[in-house]
Amino acid sequence: MKLIAGNWKMNLTPSKTKEYISRFLPLVEDISDREILLCPPFTSLCVAHELLKESKVKLGAQNCHYEQKGAYTGEISLDMLKDLDVSYAIIGHSERRWIFGESDELINKKLTACLQGNIRPVLCVGERLEEREAGLTFKVVETQVRLALSGIEHYTDSIDIAYEPVWAIGTGNPATPEDAQLVHAFIKDLLHQINPQHAGKTRVLYGGSVNPKNAGDFMKMKDVDGLLVGGASLDPESFAQIVKSF
Ligand code: PGA
Repeated sequence: MKLIAGNWKMNLTPSKTKEYISRFLPLVEDISDREILLCPPFTSLCVAHELLKESKVKLGAQNCHYEQKGAYTGEISLDMLKDLDVSYAIIGHSERRWIFGESDELINKKLTACLQGNIRPVLCVGERLEEREAGLTFKVVETQVRLALSGIEHYTDSIDIAYEPVWAIGTGNPATPEDAQLVHAFIKDLLHQINPQHAGKTRVLYGGSVNPKNAGDFMKMKDVDGLLVGGASLDPESFAQIVKSF
């Protein structure tokens, strides 16, 4: 099933989340042929959990810690997330990599913890502008995927991957659907190389300046299995349009 995910980043308070969900649910209630995922900030997960209980909309976290519990001030464990029926976690978002210095090694630890903890990770990969201009897109994406999956190669079917070129995030300057398709097909080939038993269950999502106007064009591409939407997911009407764009 295609996956359309909204990453709210550091936006929407618990009370705004309540308002959002009450507007969003009626717009998507008759949709059952695609998976819809909301990834609010941690402080909104509790209220979102209560309001989404009876719906098919799934809940995801934007990050997590890899240890089960302990002296990790400010961190959130997978058990805490699972208690709120969180079923997905975004791992290695470019903002975590480039603003908060998350390394490939840390991302690998988080992925491993998600797989052990039964939360489906959405691993984000993507090149920066200078890397694209230097013709390094495929190399960068390959390195990120290989390092993220190091030691957990047999679990490729239990993760989804978001291809998010860093230069396209929040800029209003998306990749072309054709360029995204090339990278998506490359990622899928790579998964078969990494894990010869790979059954093809990984969905490869596109992310970076997706909006209601361009969403349908991405979804027409053969290897685009969904979308990871930032800015345009903050408004329930606009996110519902994206969910219904194909
Ligand atoms: P954007 O963000 O849709 O605002 O470009 C996408 C993302 O960072 O996941």
